[in-house]
Amino acid sequence: MKVETSVFGRLSNQEEAQVFTLQNSQGITVRLTNLGGTIISILAPDRKGKLEDIVLGFDSVEGYLNPHPYIGTIVGRYANRIGSAKFMLDGTEYKLAQNAGKNHLHGGMKGYDKVLWNSSPYADLDRAGIMMSYHSYDMEEGYPGNLKVDVHFSLNEASELTIEYCATTDKNTYLNLTHHGYFNLNGARNTIYDHEIQINAGAYVETDADLIPTGKIIKLKGGPLDLRKMKSIGTEIVKLENGYDHCYIIDRIKDGPELAAAVYHPSSGRKMELFTTEPAVQFYSSNFLTGLQGKGNFKYRKHLALCLEAQHYPDSPNQPHFPSTLLKPDDIYRQKTIHKFSVE
Ligand code: GLA
Repeated sequence: MKVETSVFGRLSNQEEAQVFTLQNSQGITVRLTNLGGTIISILAPDRKGKLEDIVLGFDSVEGYLNPHPYIGTIVGRYANRIGSAKFMLDGTEYKLAQNAGKNHLHGGMKGYDKVLWNSSPYADLDRAGIMMSYHSYDMEEGYPGNLKVDVHFSLNEASELTIEYCATTDKNTYLNLTHHGYFNLNGARNTIYDHEIQINAGAYVETDADLIPTGKIIKLKGGPLDLRKMKSIGTEIVKLENGYDHCYIIDRIKDGPELAAAVYHPSSGRKMELFTTEPAVQFYSSNFLTGLQGKGNFKYRKHLALCLEAQHYPDSPNQPHFPSTLLKPDDIYRQKTIHKFSVE
């Protein structure tokens, strides 16, 4: 397999962002930049072999430097929301940026989506990838502890795009990493209403009007939120006020990456399955996406794409009964999430 490296553009401090192209012999081509660990494009074939770019993104580095809703980026130090933008840890209150009303979202003003990651591309016989690393300093965006984060992206001949995360800290801290790809398996011409989705989750995290967890876990018993059987997004989404923006708790039957969700586009045959070691997946149907000019002059609008963000539950630092996101100096944070592309 092969990987190619070129220049994507310069940041305001004159640092250079690179672009890496991973390709397999099945027709899958993934382009990534080390600015925010961002996936810029994924070309995938349909039943007839016709290629389409199945993720949203921007043509140039400027598009990513302007404000945008984490399109294709790594998200950290804490993906999703932290209520009232604060938490207590070891008797100290830590205050974070209020960048979503009075709450904190996706790591703050300059999260891992906006930093330049050190990168080393590699390719061998059946895999090509990039090792990205970032040193997040103590109190960066208000979080305690110097954190070393490694994110390893790789593509193989089975058309699996794997994202493996590893992190260590020198002080107790909270950590919740994810990747925020916006997928449309038909190339972002139309909304995702003609897609089907299945999420292997029997429960979700209840949230209030500001999308902060109430603390309750709700068991699914049918209705538009129950996606355990493959369903048409178009048929179900209209039953919801604004669309999907829910943290689904994955039914886990084994250790290691579990099949958490599948998305299918019937007319093209393109399919994406998501496997993860994380306890939950945020299914977000780009409800707040509006007014952005994307790649190839596409106007980005509501419900144009879907995100399946493998992660821990939102606001876990303030919800002691949720699975813990505490990382201690003796621990190693690990996550493995696989996007498997196929045609049916
Ligand atoms: C996440 C959240 C959404 C929204 C987007 C970014 O997916 O769940 O509520 O904040 O990020 O726009």
